[in-house]
Amino acid sequence: MKKFYPVNIPNVTIKDIKYVSRVMKNSWISSDGPEVRLFEKKFSKFINKKYSISVANGTAALEIAMKAINIKPGDEVIIPNFTIISNALSVIKLGATPVPIDCDLKDWNMIIQKIKNKISNKTKAIIVTHIYGYSNPMDEIKKILKNKKIIIVEDAAEVIGLKYKNKMCGSFGDISTFSFYANKHITTGEGGMISTDNPIFKRRCVELRNLCFGKKDRFNHTDIGWNYRITNIQAAMGLSQLNNINKVIKKKINIGKMYYKILSQNKFIYMQPPKGEKSNNIYWVVGIVILKKNYTAKKLAKKLNKIGIQTRPFFYPMNKQSILKNYLNKNKDNFKNSEYLSKYGLYLPSYFSLKKKDIEWIAKQVNNIIC
Ligand SMILES: Cc1ncc(COP(=O)(O)O)c(C=O)c1O
Repeated sequence: MKKFYPVNIPNVTIKDIKYVSRVMKNSWISSDGPEVRLFEKKFSKFINKKYSISVANGTAALEIAMKAINIKPGDEVIIPNFTIISNALSVIKLGATPVPIDCDLKDWNMIIQKIKNKISNKTKAIIVTHIYGYSNPMDEIKKILKNKKIIIVEDAAEVIGLKYKNKMCGSFGDISTFSFYANKHITTGEGGMISTDNPIFKRRCVELRNLCFGKKDRFNHTDIGWNYRITNIQAAMGLSQLNNINKVIKKKINIGKMYYKILSQNKFIYMQPPKGEKSNNIYWVVGIVILKKNYTAKKLAKKLNKIGIQTRPFFYPMNKQSILKNYLNKNKDNFKNSEYLSKYGLYLPSYFSLKKKDIEWIAKQVNNIIC
């Protein structure tokens, strides 16, 4: 039978299963359980933030974070153009306007030199999203925003455990968000986290994830919130996964390096290298960009799929999303880098259990097609 390589297989360990089973047996299965609080505590320690608030997923984390910092209609929020749509939606759902910035072709993060020009007297916040495994230069971003009352929301969903200048990604933002979806470095199936040092943001996040129940009269609610709670079962899995994160990071970096060694020889392919100018690569995914104008990622994906190699296309840029047409403030800017990446970029299988010989075979197939 032909071998099939999925783009991702979640890394669920025997220890995860044991811990989750234990929790299920003691009947703490909804959100009000000891593992939820312990997961938040341990995650805070790991990221080095005072408070962590677990939520249903990374999109929910962004929505709650944006409301917690009081984004309102009329506000503008700077976001990357090359990113997950959750960044834009968290702004739009509060009636505010996302202001996108194109990405850099080398590291795929937002072009920070463009930030200054995007700031207006309506700018309330910026979402800094670390894309596909590289950190943004957080110190330089902070320098650009110095003395401006602009809140930094750091979306570290894709880089859990990556350090920038010896500090954890997710520890730089005034408020930071994470995702524990099945393809992340740690997973709870679905799940997310918000971290902050600010006690007011923390209090708002706790209220907002739990329907803003009244303090005096429980069912007389204090604001329009959500039920975005995580379950105790998920938290148990998260705790077990967090114990294993260093092993996962080491393996993922190894996988990325093995691909890089072979595919970077191909002059028609660009990859984020293992070490960039400003950040190391934690390889959330192993992305490649085709440098041949007549060969799109779609074409390559189709060919690879036929021989059992599943891939995923890169993000579709915000400026091209038809559903966002009436919501973005594009400032008449161009977004040609994100458009290029979305047309010519895809990512390859990079799951934890992938073997060296599989990587060599997959990379060889890519090289045979893109030549
Ligand atoms: C950068 C980034 N932020 C947020 C999310 C949303 O996370 P979730 O899928 O848990 O809602 C993702 C999803 O992959 C992401 O890549």
